[in-house]
Amino acid sequence: MSEAQLAAHIGMLCQNEKLRLLHSHRTTQQEPMDELELFLKWSLKNLNMLGMVPYAKATWSIEGVTSVLMYRKDQYQIQMFIVPENTIIPEHTHPNVDSYEVYVGGNIKFSHSGKYVLAKEVEGENPNTKTALGRGSVIRVKPNDKHGGVFGPGGGVFLSVQHWLNKVEPHCVAADYTGTVMGEDHYSKVICGKPELKATLTENDVIN
Ligand SMILES: [Fe+2]
Repeated sequence: MSEAQLAAHIGMLCQNEKLRLLHSHRTTQQEPMDELELFLKWSLKNLNMLGMVPYAKATWSIEGVTSVLMYRKDQYQIQMFIVPENTIIPEHTHPNVDSYEVYVGGNIKFSHSGKYVLAKEVEGENPNTKTALGRGSVIRVKPNDKHGGVFGPGGGVFLSVQHWLNKVEPHCVAADYTGTVMGEDHYSKVICGKPELKATLTENDVIN
């Protein structure tokens, strides 16, 4: 992303936008936003429901998890993940990706650095709209940050807003993966990283 594009994105940011930052590289709100955070805010504000899904390679499927490529430009990319119920994504890292996970909806427990990160007060649904209370919560996941998830009844949906590093061309983030994989299908599809296969997965694999 060029400086001119970034400046344009900054100009488009909504001053009143309030995102729940569950895990961020910034320890205080006074520190400047980096390029990925600017890209996150720009994309959440400016990409509509249709996104900018390309004609080619619009979807991936791994272990019953579907991802939709919502946007890609240069080293930046957004994938929407649609995850069926009773899915465990074990703790892992993405060696070439800096990202934000954005909670869209459904029954998800996200883990980061060995613990669940969605606050108790934003679990469950809004009684009026029936949308997820934690909708829009974001989690910063740097390349060495361990993270995972548990998907309960009804499954869940989240966005992964990514900055690809080390001159690696963007592909599916689940194929840039170090750690225990979801299964043999996943293991066979990892391109970069160190995947490990385990016979049975439990919640203990999400919060080691
Ligand atoms: Fe991940």
